[in-house]
Amino acid sequence: MTGRKYAVPRPVKSYTWQTGSPSATKPITIALSGGSTPRGLHALLANEPAIRDRLPWPNLHFFWGDERHVPPDHPQSNYRMACETLFSSAPVPGENIHRVCGEESDAALAAEKYEQELRAFFDLEAGQLPRFDCILLGMGPDGHTASLFPGTKALHESKRLVVANWVEKFKAWRITLTIPVLNHSDLVVFMVSGAEKAETLKKVLQGDHQPDRFPAQFIRPGPGRLLWIVDKAAASCLTDYIQS
Ligand code: 6PG
Repeated sequence: MTGRKYAVPRPVKSYTWQTGSPSATKPITIALSGGSTPRGLHALLANEPAIRDRLPWPNLHFFWGDERHVPPDHPQSNYRMACETLFSSAPVPGENIHRVCGEESDAALAAEKYEQELRAFFDLEAGQLPRFDCILLGMGPDGHTASLFPGTKALHESKRLVVANWVEKFKAWRITLTIPVLNHSDLVVFMVSGAEKAETLKKVLQGDHQPDRFPAQFIRPGPGRLLWIVDKAAASCLTDYIQS
């Protein structure tokens, strides 16, 4: 730890939730995605009264599918993006935000710490996986998801929950949930937008199974637990799909 203090944005509002029904106390666990595509969803959840006021914010616990190896106030921080687009205007209790300590000088230690946080929060026994209620993922034009990039070591991690993954093209470490954790989620939602991803999305959804080349293909949580939300531009190369 460098000991430097970071101006970590904090939620500002408290919110009284209509308790009563037993399920109102069960934590609902959501892993957020990084990148730019989730910004729109965050803004909707935080600022659209018809949605915001119906969400059980005190029960929602926020984690991340991956994080860049940067401090929380860094422009590339996925945590910072979520603070600016979601937590700054949604009534999320501070203790419900479980961020990755991207400021750790050693990325492997940041991953280890996050794994310990997951093990504690989900009360896991050795060998058990956390079951998130929902994991949000994006996809890059190269077919990567979370920080699982083509040809990287983390693609074949089968024991750890969280790892530091070296990404040669960025000459940088990333901290990412591993594929077993992503596939153990109750629901995985991919949000993919932009024409620059259309060719790859075609290969990922309708091409041969080559997950080392297109890591998004590793994500197979099981029947009824995978949803792709894609915009028209990203879907432009797909054939016969249900358009809503
Ligand atoms: C990250 C993400 C990453 C992202 C894709 C898509 O930290 O960058 O978790 O997997 O989802 O790169 O990013 P865009 O939405 O910006 O295209």
